[in-house]
Amino acid sequence: MTLETMFNVAGKSVIVTGGASGIGRAYAEIMVEMGARVRILDMDAAGLETTVSEIAAMGWPGEVSSGQLDVSDRAALATAFDTVVADQGRIDVVFANAGVDAGPGFLSPTGDRVPEAQIDTMPEAQWDRVIDVNLTGVFMTIRNAAHHMKQTGGGRIIVTSSVAARVNESIVGTAYMPAKAGVDHLVRNAAMELAAHGINVNCISPGPFITNIAGGRLKNKADREAFEAQSLMGRIALPEEIKGLALYLASPASSYVTGAQMTIDGGSSLRG
Ligand SMILES: NC(=O)c1ccc[n+]([C@@H]2O[C@H](COP(=O)([O-])OP(=O)(O)OC[C@H]3O[C@@H](n4cnc5c(N)ncnc54)[C@H](O)[C@@H]3O)[C@@H](O)[C@H]2O)c1
Repeated sequence: MTLETMFNVAGKSVIVTGGASGIGRAYAEIMVEMGARVRILDMDAAGLETTVSEIAAMGWPGEVSSGQLDVSDRAALATAFDTVVADQGRIDVVFANAGVDAGPGFLSPTGDRVPEAQIDTMPEAQWDRVIDVNLTGVFMTIRNAAHHMKQTGGGRIIVTSSVAARVNESIVGTAYMPAKAGVDHLVRNAAMELAAHGINVNCISPGPFITNIAGGRLKNKADREAFEAQSLMGRIALPEEIKGLALYLASPASSYVTGAQMTIDGGSSLRG
C-alpha cells in the first residue's frame, strides 16, 4: 500500500450523524476534504444549513449534503439511509456520532452537591432521552449501516463513545456513563458479528473536546478548568484534533482494525 492509497477515501459514500457541530462536523470536514461524498444527518436544521454551506465553501474535492432527523426516530433514520443508497448507490462509511449530554453530575466542578442531579432526584425523562439517543440511537445507526453494507460486501462503522464509558465522572450526568459503556460493548459485539461481512466496527473514545455539547459547557471557565486539570497536556482538545483518527479508521490504513477502542484524551483517563 502506498501512502496515497492508505488514506484514500475519495468517492466513498459516508454518513455522519450529529455532524452539524463539534466532533461530527470535524469527521464530515476531513471526509469531504479527502474527496468523499458525505451526508450529514442531524436534528439541528440551522446548524445543518450553516455547516453544509461552510464546508461546501471550502472548495474541497468531496461533496456534502444533509438530512434533518432525530436519531431516536427509527423510521426517519431508516428512510435517511435508504435515501443515501438511492442517491449514492451505496454506503461505505458510517460515523455513529450524534449524542447529548446528561445534564449536571451529582457534584459541581467545585465539589458541591447538585440537588437536582442526585440519583434519586434527577429527572427520569433525562435518563430516557440519553439512553434513547446515545445508546439506542447508536444501535439503530449500526443496524441500518450493517443492513446496507452487507449488500455491498463491507464497510466501516465508527462510533463516538467516550472515556466516560470506562472512567466514572462525578461532574457528568449519571446517565451518560452507562449509555457510553453500553456503546463500547455494542461496538465489540457488532465487530465480532460483522467481521464475516467485511465490516469493521470501531470506537473513537474522546476525552474533553471543546464543542457545543451541554450548551458549550466546556467553554465555561470552571468546567473547563476541571477537565483541563485531568489532562496530562493541561488543556482540552479542539475538534480539529480528531480528524487524523477519523481518517485512519475510515481508510484502508486501518484494514486490520476492528472492535477497537481508540482513546483520544490527552492522557486524561490515566488519572481517572
Ligand atoms: N465534546 C466532548 O468533550 C466529548 C467527549 C466524549 C464524547 N463526546 C461525544 O461526541 C459526540 C459528539 O458530541 P460533540 O461534543 O461534538 O457535541 P455537539 O453538541 O457539539 O454536537 C453534537 C451534534 O449532534 C446533534 N444531535 C444531538 N442529538 C441528536 C439526535 N437525537 N439526533 C440527531 N442529531 C443529534 C446535535 O444537533 C449536534 O449537532 C457525542 O456522542 C458525545 O457524547 C464528546
